[in-house]
Amino acid sequence: MINYKEKIAQLLSTAVEGLTTEELQNMVEVPADGKMGDYAFPCFRLAKVLRKAPPMIAKDIAEKIKDDPIFAKVEPVNAYVNMFLSRDVYVKDTLGEVIEKDDDFGRSDMGQGKTVIVEYSSPNIAKPFHIGHIRSTVIGNSIYKIYDFLGYDTVRINHLGDYGTQFGKMICAYRRWGNKEDVINEPIKTLLSYYTKFHVEVENDPSLDQEARDIFTRLEKGEPEEVELWQWFRDESLKEFTRVYDMLGIEFDSYAGESFYSDKMPRFVQELKDAGLLKESEGAQIVDLEEYGMSPALITKSDGSTLYITRDIAAAVYRKEHYDFYKNIYVVASQQNLHFQQWIKIVELLGYDWAQDCVHIPFGLVSLEDGTMSTREGRVVFLEDVLNRAVDQTREIIKEKNVNTDSIDETAKMVGIGAVMFQELSNNRIKDYVFSWDKVLNFEGETGPYVQYTHARAASVLRKAGEEVVSRAKAGDVDTSYITGDSAYDLARLIYAFPAAVKEAGDKYEPSIVTRHIVNIAQAFNRFYHDEHVLVDNEAEKIAKVALVIAAKNTIKNGLGLLGIQAPEKM
Ligand code: ARG
Repeated sequence: MINYKEKIAQLLSTAVEGLTTEELQNMVEVPADGKMGDYAFPCFRLAKVLRKAPPMIAKDIAEKIKDDPIFAKVEPVNAYVNMFLSRDVYVKDTLGEVIEKDDDFGRSDMGQGKTVIVEYSSPNIAKPFHIGHIRSTVIGNSIYKIYDFLGYDTVRINHLGDYGTQFGKMICAYRRWGNKEDVINEPIKTLLSYYTKFHVEVENDPSLDQEARDIFTRLEKGEPEEVELWQWFRDESLKEFTRVYDMLGIEFDSYAGESFYSDKMPRFVQELKDAGLLKESEGAQIVDLEEYGMSPALITKSDGSTLYITRDIAAAVYRKEHYDFYKNIYVVASQQNLHFQQWIKIVELLGYDWAQDCVHIPFGLVSLEDGTMSTREGRVVFLEDVLNRAVDQTREIIKEKNVNTDSIDETAKMVGIGAVMFQELSNNRIKDYVFSWDKVLNFEGETGPYVQYTHARAASVLRKAGEEVVSRAKAGDVDTSYITGDSAYDLARLIYAFPAAVKEAGDKYEPSIVTRHIVNIAQAFNRFYHDEHVLVDNEAEKIAKVALVIAAKNTIKNGLGLLGIQAPEKM
């Protein structure tokens, strides 16, 4: 596609002396009001150099560049050169590219040869996979897809919380009150109940605490009986997580969680010691971070056992040595801001200059309308239940609305789960938000179902147009003068801007930029569809309009794909 800013800067450079093309490009503006043109160039800054009044300069420049075919009109207005693009050229160029690239429209090779790690989801084993986990899972998945689309080599890591003293408690509880069948049938709920029971029982019998600690020490030493139980808890939990990941269509390249680093930590404790960073405090080893405005980081406890933060230090170094990442991205809730600031600082203090390539991508909290969320009150809402409810309710809506589908169940899954994911990716990620069923499943709002429905509507138009018309439109046999009306042009402009939106989303780690962009495209498509008849008698006009429908459909599909959401052909 023509890079208009660049092209305009080149034209300007033939008309203006003393500024580089790059400087000129930075000065080109996009006026907020379309009446002032698609692009504008302010001449104030040139007045001093050229010793002429800005309106005179604007007039001269306009005269020099106005004949280029990319313009329909170039107008000097006061100190500005207002440029109106030729809609015909613009639309032809844009549609040509989208149709040719198809699934790859918006893809880039900017990341070639660079490895980006995206760590996301990372739930704790034997703890409920609840609605709170959905954010990391869905946002991380989208960030991974965006980076993949931008041409980076990506590695998806699930840093499972599968290690720590709580496993001592769980094994202890299982041995005392546990039952194998229950664990197999419902691993997470059962293991959670053991953990809860342990906390109740320890009130009456404080010796349980010591028992649990001893068990964990045996686990750390690799005693077979403890390891076997731990491994079994982990496997069963993972089965349950995988069920949810399958529903969401989410995968990982590695499940190297906390336990993976259990034997890799002594090296870092030694490195910290050698660097003179470790201090003893009541038997424990800490790194003092006061100088950097942070509380101290606890590296090893007084009994020598390591902690969450120690494992993160080990994990980062392992990842650098193993994957040689360009960026190592952690999609983890903003409650852990301090934790990430602390360990990234420590890695930096150890002299690893790539510490700056470790990026924590925080996000806000999600809560449900009725206030159910908190684990502490025991009123946990399981993610799987939320997804099932979304599918069930969608099935009802589909029946009620008489939606066009070959398989109600398939569509209900695609739309119900897509709706929940879309909602997660709709807001700026850092914002806290309230999960609302009415909003999520509204087919008319700025929602997943609305965008999916628009995609299906475009698919239906193409089916009606017939294969021959579609293939002629795809072959580029298009008279774009038929699609230069306002609503067609607005739609084309949004399609044109899609690749830049994907890049921006990558730069800012902000999938909601893509989400908003495809909502805008869907709305523009529906306006176009409302304003103009697509399947008209005039063959040439029909083909041109069908080409625009194909382009809009491709772009919506690619956008949904980056959010991890499917695009139904019928709905
Ligand atoms: N397992 C942790 C939790 O559920 C999240 C892990 C985040 N990742 C990390 N590398 N610390 O809170």
